[in-house]
Order: sequence, then structure tokens, then C-alpha cells
Amino acid sequence: MKLLLSEKQVQQKVGVLARKISKDFAGREVLLIGVLKGAFIFMADLARKMTTPVKMDFVRLASYGSETQSSGKIKFTKNLETPLRGKDVLIVEDIIDTGITLKHLYQRLKARKPRSLKVVALLDKPGRRQVNFQADYLGFRIENHFVVGYGLDCAEQYRNLRGIYVLK
Ligand code: PRP
Repeated sequence: MKLLLSEKQVQQKVGVLARKISKDFAGREVLLIGVLKGAFIFMADLARKMTTPVKMDFVRLASYGSETQSSGKIKFTKNLETPLRGKDVLIVEDIIDTGITLKHLYQRLKARKPRSLKVVALLDKPGRRQVNFQADYLGFRIENHFVVGYGLDCAEQYRNLRGIYVLK
């Protein structure tokens, strides 16, 4: 494994994102929606660095249909427990790869009529994109490496690493 982003780099970036988001949502309560499992560590750090009041919920998604089809749909294997209508909602993702997960999730959540709906992603691999999707708040753009750590896994291992590593 080769270190890509150190714990310090990650924490500094999470701080920058938290300050920007807190400023943009000043005086409002933000409902954070974490996409399990990968986002759980990022969301825990982000939430604790934010200065606006936050509430938290999680979804877990599975894709179905052909994995090679960019039109592949997603289904909730764990749905939200919170109504979104009228809320300021921020989807929290660890990584955007093909973009399929977030594009579908965004559309599904938008239909629940939140007051606002934004996305924060810690990592983005634009070189892997199959559908057009951009995060409103982004930590790092990275090359097409297979990365682990800080929530990201390889066969469920390495999620607890404090930095982000390229798996060789
Ligand atoms: C990863 C990641 C995103 C998704 C991004 O989750 O956490 O949710 O893939 O990929 P996409 O942009 O190509 O849709 P994964 O399916 O590995 O599940 P996990 O978070 O439980 O590890």
C-alpha cells in the first residue's frame, strides 16, 4: 500500500469543507445523509467540525440491472428514517466513481421535496465517470487508483485506516 493522503491532509480538508458548509448554511439546521458504508467515518468527522446544528440519517444502496450499463438503477437496502420535506439536506459520500450512485440517489431524494439538496464528497475520480454528476463540495480529485482507508474498503478491510492509501 502506498500513502496517498495522510491523516493530517484528510483532517485539514474535512475542516475546510466543514467551515464552508457551515458558512453556507449559517442559521439553518442541516440534515446529513450518509451513504453507507463508506461515508461513515467522513460523516462523523465532518459533523463534529460543523458549527451549524445537524441531524443525521443514513441510506444503504445496492445497484441492480447490468453493472456495465450506465443506466443501472439503485435500490435502497436501508431507507431513510427522516422525512425530507422542507429540510436543508446534505448527502455525504466518501467517493464518486462512475457517478451512478449519486445521480440516482440525488433524483430519488429530490422527489421528497427537501428545501435544498446538496452533495459533499471527500474524493472524486473524474476519469471513471459514466454519468454526469458533480458534487457541490469536494475534498480531493484523484487519479483512477483503487483507494482504501478512511471508510473505504477492499473486501471490507482497511476502512479504519486514518489515511487514504493506494492499493497496489
Ligand atoms: C462506493 C462509494 C459510493 C459508490 C461510488 O460504495 O462509497 O457509494 O461506491 O461509486 P459510483 O460513483 O460508481 O456509483 P460501495 O458500493 O463500494 O459500498 P460501500 O460504501 O459499502 O463500501
